[in-house]
Amino acid sequence: MKWLRIVALSWLVASSAAISVEESVSVLRNEEPALRSRVKFLQEFHPPPTEQVQLTLDVDYYEQYDTLKKRYLASKMSDNQTQALSDLQYLADHDDVDAVYTLAQINLFGNFSLPTNATNALHYYEKMTQLSDNSTAKYMLGFIYATGLFGKVEMDQGKALLYYQLAADQGNVKAALALAYRYSTGLSVAINTKLALYYYNFVANECFNYLKESPIGGPNIDKYNFRVYDLHGGLYGSGASDVASSVPLDFQKVVDIEEYADIGFQSASYKDQVNSVKNAYQGSYWRPRDYDKAFEIAHDCASQGIQLKVVNEVLEGHVHYYKSNSPALVQSVGQCCANLGHMYLRGEGTAKDFDKARVWLERGNKLCRSSENRVDLGLLYELQGTPEYTQKAYELYSLEAQVSPKALYHKAMLDAKTDVLLAKSQILRAAERGSIEAMYQLVQYDDREGGYPDNYLVRGYKRFVESVEPVVCDLSWAFHQLLNRNLEQALIGYAMAAEQGFENAQASAAYLLYSPVGYLEEPPRVPYDRFQSALNYYSRASRQLNMDAEVFLGDIHYHGLKKSQVGDAEDGDGYVVEPDYELAASYYESAAKKGARQARFNLGYMYEMGIGLAQDFHLAKRYYDGVYGPDMKPTIPAQLALIRLWIKTWWYGEKVSEENMEEEKGRTWDDWIQMYKRLRNERAPDPVEEPLHHWSRKYEGEDYSFEASFDISNSDMLFLAVFVTIFALVMVNRWRLLRQQGEDGPGENRNDDQNARFRIILL
Ligand SMILES: *[C@@H]1O[C@H](CO)[C@@H](O)[C@H](O)[C@H]1NC(C)=O
Ligand SMILES: *[C@@H]1O[C@H](CO)[C@@H](O)[C@H](O)[C@H]1NC(C)=O
Ligand SMILES: *[C@@H]1O[C@H](CO)[C@@H](O)[C@H](O)[C@H]1NC(C)=O
Ligand SMILES: *[C@@H]1O[C@H](CO)[C@@H](O)[C@H](O)[C@H]1NC(C)=O
Repeated sequence: MKWLRIVALSWLVASSAAISVEESVSVLRNEEPALRSRVKFLQEFHPPPTEQVQLTLDVDYYEQYDTLKKRYLASKMSDNQTQALSDLQYLADHDDVDAVYTLAQINLFGNFSLPTNATNALHYYEKMTQLSDNSTAKYMLGFIYATGLFGKVEMDQGKALLYYQLAADQGNVKAALALAYRYSTGLSVAINTKLALYYYNFVANECFNYLKESPIGGPNIDKYNFRVYDLHGGLYGSGASDVASSVPLDFQKVVDIEEYADIGFQSASYKDQVNSVKNAYQGSYWRPRDYDKAFEIAHDCASQGIQLKVVNEVLEGHVHYYKSNSPALVQSVGQCCANLGHMYLRGEGTAKDFDKARVWLERGNKLCRSSENRVDLGLLYELQGTPEYTQKAYELYSLEAQVSPKALYHKAMLDAKTDVLLAKSQILRAAERGSIEAMYQLVQYDDREGGYPDNYLVRGYKRFVESVEPVVCDLSWAFHQLLNRNLEQALIGYAMAAEQGFENAQASAAYLLYSPVGYLEEPPRVPYDRFQSALNYYSRASRQLNMDAEVFLGDIHYHGLKKSQVGDAEDGDGYVVEPDYELAASYYESAAKKGARQARFNLGYMYEMGIGLAQDFHLAKRYYDGVYGPDMKPTIPAQLALIRLWIKTWWYGEKVSEENMEEEKGRTWDDWIQMYKRLRNERAPDPVEEPLHHWSRKYEGEDYSFEASFDISNSDMLFLAVFVTIFALVMVNRWRLLRQQGEDGPGENRNDDQNARFRIILL
């Protein structure tokens, strides 16, 4: 009987041969471009030739709008696409593992530009773990439970921990990193530094294997590990943010064409080629690396260049390159040779060929001075394995050790054979200057040596593994989703890294969920779950020394969050988050201690007005004084506040300076308020518990004459006058703009911009 059933089964399978996962997937893949062209909001982002990028973020998140968008997208799918999806569903219902996995990914990541569905994603990943022992699916389940996909499915930290654990124990690197972060920070689990260290060590070894398997000289890693808001100057905009930008310098990989305008035509064309090679080889954040093209140009440039007479003279050793007739030209050709050798050495754009690499690298070394070229040559010599060549390599590394961390690292590794202490000090320096390999060796040394606190080692491992992003996360995917305005997908990408402890990703995810507002704008209106997730990420980032995140938390607790600002709250006037001035002040204080100017200003204000803190003009002044701009002068708002403070002190100056303040109790709080109102005609601060006797708290410390230190001069008055004028002009302009908008009515093409608040312009 059994064989009959088998025959029947195979007949069934054969009859449904038309349906297969591969075929369905290929239909979905092939028809993706057509789908995108039919749906306007999927239109691909193309950077203009100047590589200037405008990035637009939505502020508010409306669930209904999102659903509508997905429904619209689904309605634009072709019959073949719909058929392919339902085939996949059919297969998944019949327990085909690949179909289940594909559907899970489509529903979470929106592969092939298809609409996502969080409920379905959870369902298919659950099913996947029942059908197979696949660690990726377990890791994804851990992630889904850890975040609840921001209010779309159930959040369960216990399950998250369990699934991360199961996946990590099967050797899943991403899960191991998430787990390591949880254990090291005590995220819904007791802090266990030993376990954290164990998992970080595991991840670090995987990362190091990746480094070892990459071409000679290490992998080319594109760094996408930056905070998205740093693209427009920081969480609070440029100037107002306190955390240094995380955007890597080489983010702006732009052709510097003007540079060589004055070095003659022929050298210009070679210099041009050098730049083209560089651009093709490095790619940019919206253009992938193109090794084939880089190789082609470098090959042309180098093989033509060495036939030039002036180059030949240098190659044959008649003159040194900088004494030749046209040093710029010779150097450009040298650069091409160096690049060509580099690619032969690593097998990029061509097959690996050490002999050719050597020829070109040695030519490059004669024609120009390039530390990369010398390191390449050193690596090549080291491969020979003989003592003479190793010595030659060592000399080349030594020449460049001052400028190139890579050279320093390789020198240190040779030194390590004879002098471990010297090697370690060099490795330390190379790691500080960004050599990834050195970071790993350093923490390995420390780990082996023993005697270092576990926390210190955890930090070392964390820094190393976060430098090898391709192994542990996919921030480049997240960034490209962002560029294409796929904000929900970008959020998932950043959140995955945020769960693994990347501070920049935490800040980015928080920002995509809930961004702080300037004073004139309405705060974003998002569902409570998203707000709560944002708060979590901000506070995790703040624990990793992100001062701006700390200031943000202070702001949230200062203003509170009204029900009317939460998308899914029931109606009412109450607060979702009650204002808590003391908590706000404690956040500000912590940030101010680390040097956050914004926090100092806010604290100064709270001391000045006596909000949440006992009123104290001295301390207020002290904090205002700490608000320096980049030019080490007080910023404009701080100057204004200082002037205001000065006027206040002057108004009731004598009273303040009198010793026996106890007698002042006769004056009620309301009197003070009236005075404020008369003075500045501004909003009266909310009453606080102990208004009066703290008012006079003397400045602790040495004798300090308050008024004398307010040295208000003519220039301050001039400044005040200028400020008032500018303010008036701005208001008039704004009013005109508003009126104009009112006349025009809501424009036709405002659709895209209605939800948009930020336009991030990159050069
Ligand atoms: C749908 O699939 C069929 C068979 O594979 C193919 O002939 C047809 O061109 C496809 N339709 C579209 C719109 O691509
Ligand atoms: C779907 O997209 C994710 C994220 O980029 C990717 O890791 C995965 O391999 C894709 N799956 C398929 C079936 O294309
Ligand atoms: C997701 O799919 C489920 C079941 O197919 C459906 O009930 C639900 O409405 C979908 N959710 C969204 C947001 O489309
Ligand atoms: C999980 O399953 C998918 C689909 O069968 C496969 O592509 C992937 O490599 C598996 N992952 C692991 C870690 O086994």
